[in-house]
Amino acid sequence: MTPDLLEQGAQRLAARDALLAAKQGQTESGGRQAGFSRIVSPGEVDVAHGRILYLEDVNVSFDGFKAINNLSLDIAPGELRCIIGPNGAGKTTMMDIITGKTRPDSGTVYFGSTIDLLQHKEAEIAQLGLGRKFQKPTVFEQLTVFENLELALKTDKSVKASMFFKLDSAQRDRLAEMLHTIHLANSVNRMAGTLSHGQKQWLEIGMLLMQEPKLLLLDEPVAGMTDEETHRTAELFLSLKGKHSLMVVEHDMSFIRTISDIVTVLCDGSVLAHGTLDQVQADERVIEVYLGR
Ligand SMILES: Nc1ncnc2c1ncn2[C@@H]1O[C@H](COP(=O)(O)OP(=O)(O)O)[C@@H](O)[C@H]1O
Ligand SMILES: [Mg+2]
Repeated sequence: MTPDLLEQGAQRLAARDALLAAKQGQTESGGRQAGFSRIVSPGEVDVAHGRILYLEDVNVSFDGFKAINNLSLDIAPGELRCIIGPNGAGKTTMMDIITGKTRPDSGTVYFGSTIDLLQHKEAEIAQLGLGRKFQKPTVFEQLTVFENLELALKTDKSVKASMFFKLDSAQRDRLAEMLHTIHLANSVNRMAGTLSHGQKQWLEIGMLLMQEPKLLLLDEPVAGMTDEETHRTAELFLSLKGKHSLMVVEHDMSFIRTISDIVTVLCDGSVLAHGTLDQVQADERVIEVYLGR
């Protein structure tokens, strides 16, 4: 079995899961819901209403072209939500909006039930615990795998702070676990630049996870991977399920089939369908947009 990912995070989530199991419901877009309440301390994301992410009636136009059109969507804590849809459907633009890269013309975007993401800048949103993996891998090629992961742990990125940064034993343990999780335990001292495309993607996912994001958005993580790498990435995602809240945009249907619970189909900037992959693949409207009829 895959080793437990983030020991501390897992423990925290275990307590939460017990509550989750007691009161499970459905979010509007079909995800699992946590129907519990607890006191939220500053900086924490309030998921008392069973949503880690909530979008309502979001609209964006680029030069009069409506890229996002009354988009509404929500995601439950611990959910792994898959997003599919034809090219140009607005998937990347949706991620741009959630992460503050693009401002919508109208609509509501909440992180938990209390954080209005439209009131925050891109850098602040990252600090709030919203991680994003772009399509292309972005690792530090001149640093080793270990150094890349170590760097991800540094909160103070100033030169002086970096020079005197030392991993404590808990961080060392987490880093070692992460190396196993991302299948790079045998490549600790390799320069990131010498890794395969797939390995670079895993390393970047590992770097993001080291920062313990409350929600991680991944845009086409298996694009360009070999079948073997795709298969191992599916294993990795399955091991993250329940411990992390993830939104994964992908085209690879066999990958989606392996990892998905609920799939949301985006088309022309809004939700066309959602359900299990079998449900959405049987939906006439979905068949139509994919076959281009
Ligand atoms: N910054 C931008 N300026 C103009 N048009 C854009 C911009 N970003 C995206 N678009 C357009 O919005 C639509 C949705 O794009 P995108 O979100 O990248 O789709 P997807 O990721 O689903 O393939 C496309 O037609 C694209 O050309
Ligand atoms: Mg895209």
